[in-house]
Amino acid sequence: MKQPLTASPSARLSGRIRVPGDKSISHRALIMGALATGTTRIAGLLEAEDVMATAQAVAALGAEVERSNGAVAVKGQGVGGLRAPSAPLDFGNSGTGSRLMLGVVAGHDMQVEFTGDASLRRRPMGRVLAPLAAMGLQTDADEDHATLPLVVRGTCDLLPIVYDLPVPSAQVKSAVLLAGLHAPGRTTVVEPVAVRDHTERMLIYFGAEISVEDRGAGARAVTVCGDAELHGASIAVPGDPSSAAFMIAASLISPGSDIVVENVLLNPTRSGFIQTLREMGARIEVLDRRDEGGEPVGDLRVRASALKGVRVPPERAPAMIDEYPVLACLAAFAEGETRMEGLAELKVKESDRLAATVAGLAACGVSARIEGDDLIVAGRGEVKGGGLVETHMDHRIAMAFLTLGLGARAPVTVDDTSMIATSFPDFTKLMTKLGAQFA
Ligand code: S3P
Repeated sequence: MKQPLTASPSARLSGRIRVPGDKSISHRALIMGALATGTTRIAGLLEAEDVMATAQAVAALGAEVERSNGAVAVKGQGVGGLRAPSAPLDFGNSGTGSRLMLGVVAGHDMQVEFTGDASLRRRPMGRVLAPLAAMGLQTDADEDHATLPLVVRGTCDLLPIVYDLPVPSAQVKSAVLLAGLHAPGRTTVVEPVAVRDHTERMLIYFGAEISVEDRGAGARAVTVCGDAELHGASIAVPGDPSSAAFMIAASLISPGSDIVVENVLLNPTRSGFIQTLREMGARIEVLDRRDEGGEPVGDLRVRASALKGVRVPPERAPAMIDEYPVLACLAAFAEGETRMEGLAELKVKESDRLAATVAGLAACGVSARIEGDDLIVAGRGEVKGGGLVETHMDHRIAMAFLTLGLGARAPVTVDDTSMIATSFPDFTKLMTKLGAQFA
């Protein structure tokens, strides 16, 4: 059943909060824990539906996952040591879980059915099946149009490959690198622009041999040595910058706000949103920058700010791909036009986020348009609000427009908040703690 919610114009936001663990890192910690020898202890794992689906999948493949002393422990089975599950693996709404696990299953001699919810069943899987099939994964699906549900058969005799990413996707890169752990020799993925690099950072942390070669103009070749051995490790998952983005945005547009979001991941392949906000005139300071488990983190102080429209170049898209809906909402509060370029990948997320964002903005009295793969928002310094926004089973559309409603002149209602549980179950609770009003 749909769960609508209304965000009302709020007074100033204040206080210190911690957002839950990073979703990308949480998935990877469970997966690498399952492929390691020994036990992996994960502190700060994101306990949201997407990550729980991955936890259930690795457990169904034979790697026990249990809670102990406030952390989550995964009993690894070693690279190639997982066993066939007795039922289809259901990844719910999670593109990351399903695509990365296709890479893992590829290296095991077993047949597995992958499935997911209505949104995930619409998303393209051919992008991972193409390289994995070249390595030896078998499937009956038509690679160009493959969607879940999908039956695949892995093999112990995977071939290493060199793969040029045709789309800037960390999920595809990660699926190939995870499969490469099982293949003899070296598997290389060449990325045209840097996409999030948590997989390679964590593989190094677990003891795999990884090399990264700079190919110029932002391109990189990432190589994993196969027949690898991973060793169980202790991981502290930093706060998710894609969740922090909503609190940051809400504070920027609610006059007089002054908040601190603690322990946020500051990996440069994820920091495009902060960079863009600074260019728009946002007052954001990084306090106490430090390193945790191979990832940079810090506390962010954010104060309400007068924003101006900017151009966001296409090469920055991978470093803020999940933040465009909320950036587009923020751009409506800026003075002048914001032009976000090169957003083709937004069309194949949990919903067509380009279309959903423009429609939501229109419902709130904001003029926005799509030109090719670019999104242009006309900022007028203030937003009328008062609309009903359709979320299309997309958690980030729901959170972005609730955030917009906090700064608008009239309340904004989103038609369904149930999907927020896939990434950020405490979203409303934490926003309310800062002073936001929902009904
Ligand atoms: C993710 C990569 C991105 C991102 C998703 C998480 C990951 O997807 O949108 O939320 O953890 O690797 P793509 O790799 O498809 O761009």
